[in-house]
Amino acid sequence: MPISVVIGSQWGDEGKGKIVDLLSENVDIVARYQGGANAGHTICWGDETFVLHLVPSGIFQKDVTCVIGNGVVIDPVAVMEEIRMIKDLGYDVEGRLLISHNAHMIMPYHKKVEEARERWRDAGAIGTTGRGIGPAYVDKFARTGVRVVDLLDRDVLRRKMELALEEKNSILKNVYGADELDVDAMIEEYVEFDKQIDPYITDTTQYLCNALKEGQRVLAEGAQGSLLDVDFGTYPFVTSSHPTVGGCCTGLGVPPMEIDRVIGIVKAYCTRVGNGPFPTELDNAAGDELRAAGHEFGATTGRPRRCGWLDLVALRYTSMINGFTELAITKLDVLSNLTEIKVCTAYELDGRRTQRFPSDLHTLERAVPVYETLPGWNRDISGITSYEQLPAEARDYLDFISHFLEVPSIIVSSGPKREETILRSHTA
Ligand code: IMP
Repeated sequence: MPISVVIGSQWGDEGKGKIVDLLSENVDIVARYQGGANAGHTICWGDETFVLHLVPSGIFQKDVTCVIGNGVVIDPVAVMEEIRMIKDLGYDVEGRLLISHNAHMIMPYHKKVEEARERWRDAGAIGTTGRGIGPAYVDKFARTGVRVVDLLDRDVLRRKMELALEEKNSILKNVYGADELDVDAMIEEYVEFDKQIDPYITDTTQYLCNALKEGQRVLAEGAQGSLLDVDFGTYPFVTSSHPTVGGCCTGLGVPPMEIDRVIGIVKAYCTRVGNGPFPTELDNAAGDELRAAGHEFGATTGRPRRCGWLDLVALRYTSMINGFTELAITKLDVLSNLTEIKVCTAYELDGRRTQRFPSDLHTLERAVPVYETLPGWNRDISGITSYEQLPAEARDYLDFISHFLEVPSIIVSSGPKREETILRSHTA
């Protein structure tokens, strides 16, 4: 059972990039299974910071092979740019990055339609990243998508794109009153991608299943967070894929019984970008302070993230869905300056107290958080590398989380750099 899955337990931006980079020291393969260039996975080494959007965060470990699975939607422009950036840093990519031939592609019309639809939704806009993710998944499930394999045959590609553009241009013009797109220019651009992307394309499912048979260890890297899952998140303010554990099987083509670890990444407080309910949001000076201390600005869009206290009701729900076997708690150092820390342990709903995460939006919007107040440690813990060196209040905070969720925390992050990490278990 050699697959470990790393999953965001909140609304994304939990710090998965650093943890995947760290864990990939002990694996052979790192694989992305869903989402696209809406993700921004940040990795810091020494004084350098890299942000990856599509390529798995294991690419900086020279002996690791990285896979972009069939469940990911691929923007060929973004992936080629990222490959160039990684090569310029001195890393081999060819032979180490494999892209599924079955993955769907993000086309320029997906971004156009998304932009027009968000404008049209007005106050009901989702607040998407604008990367064309939703419309690309819509086409996948409407069976009108263009897959990476289609790049191999110019005629097939032309036919599919012409058909798609006929429909999209009509929607852009007649529904949204937006400009139409030029078919020929787009086809010329995409035909060029065939040559560039060809060395990376393969049947990644076959590759992964062979690797598993040979006993290789795989780390599956989730993007976004469980509360943005299209089925289990705060619908409709979600992304259009499955960041949760099931997405790993369908997005890579691997059997569920191969998964032995499900590592939930929990930020020590909570953030959200885009619109939608967020019960523990601090829409005040305290929230501004968290944002400044945690540098909470989107890695993909640069948008300021909404900040708030840790929500254990939501976390217990995402832990239940995913079956977290372990937790990695990130950005603990950001809470350093606080004299007290609040943690949401229940919601008040229509005069009744509940620990159940509501499944519908309107109920969640009415939920009033019930807090427990824990003492802060009120001193800088940045860079601490052992649990014993942490102030007693910080240890109590970690233990409170693990106890409430009934899941042990195996990694604690005390700063953005790789070395600013506490490993609490030899298996980490
Ligand atoms: P989309 O994935 O671009 O369609 O955006 C849908 C929602 O998911 C929006 O609220 C985005 O801000 C949010 N979202 C998408 N990707 C990420 C991410 O990597 N981190 C945090 N939020 C994200």
